[in-house]
Amino acid sequence: MSIKTSIKEHFTNNHLNLINHFENASFKSHWDYFFQDNPELDSNQTYFEGDCNLKRDLVFRRFNWKDLDECVALFKKVFSADPWFDEWVSLDQSRNYLKELVENPVFEGFLMCEDSKIVAVCLGHRRSWWMGKEFFVDEFFVKTGRQGNGIGTKTVGSLVNVLRQDGYTRLTLLTNKNIPAETFYLKNGFYNNEKRTVMVRELQ
Ligand SMILES: CC(C)(COP(=O)(O)OP(=O)(O)OC[C@H]1O[C@@H](n2cnc3c(N)ncnc32)[C@H](O)[C@@H]1OP(=O)(O)O)[C@@H](O)C(=O)NCCC(=O)NCCS
Repeated sequence: MSIKTSIKEHFTNNHLNLINHFENASFKSHWDYFFQDNPELDSNQTYFEGDCNLKRDLVFRRFNWKDLDECVALFKKVFSADPWFDEWVSLDQSRNYLKELVENPVFEGFLMCEDSKIVAVCLGHRRSWWMGKEFFVDEFFVKTGRQGNGIGTKTVGSLVNVLRQDGYTRLTLLTNKNIPAETFYLKNGFYNNEKRTVMVRELQ
């Protein structure tokens, strides 16, 4: 086992300390070194040049801790609007929620960028299910004002390619019925699992 792999395994087993450590800006490059090491995504590969609604280059890459605040701002704006109307009271509250997702030891996140600005975000986590490695999408969204231009579709396409290369066999997510997002997912190869239901028990 390489030294890099040993160190990565050691810290993965103590991930909360590790996350706190990397929250310190001066150590963020260490996170990149040990954890963001998929060379295919580290390169600035450009997709979809010349698409009619996508006049600028789109770059698909992995989420990095330094992207958190930009994602938080986009997330709060997108989900405060139609059709969600979520009531996030502050950026700190949204940041806390997304930070919890990122701190998950099996977290994986991906971004689509346009002129270096994030336009689509996919935050999820791995589930080592008996049927194979599954990617559960916790949050997926396209920047307000850029929706409806094919960016979400391109992001799902790139995500699927990368996950297949990484040995994933399935993508799963929850969304609301009868909203544009449901139509979007159905158009992008997802189906409703009629055998499943979402159960909730209120505690107040
Ligand atoms: C749902 C979402 C990810 C789709 O990404 P997108 O880039 O807007 O979608 P695309 O342009 O690739 O695909 C558009 C298709 O998705 C559907 N769609 C979903 N949301 C849409 C929106 N806000 N504007 C236009 N089309 C939308 C339409 O059916 C459309 O099909 P059409 O072009 O044939 O009419 C994006 O609109 C979004 O972030 N919405 C708000 C957040 C959200 O609902 N996230 C999913 C939570 S589970």
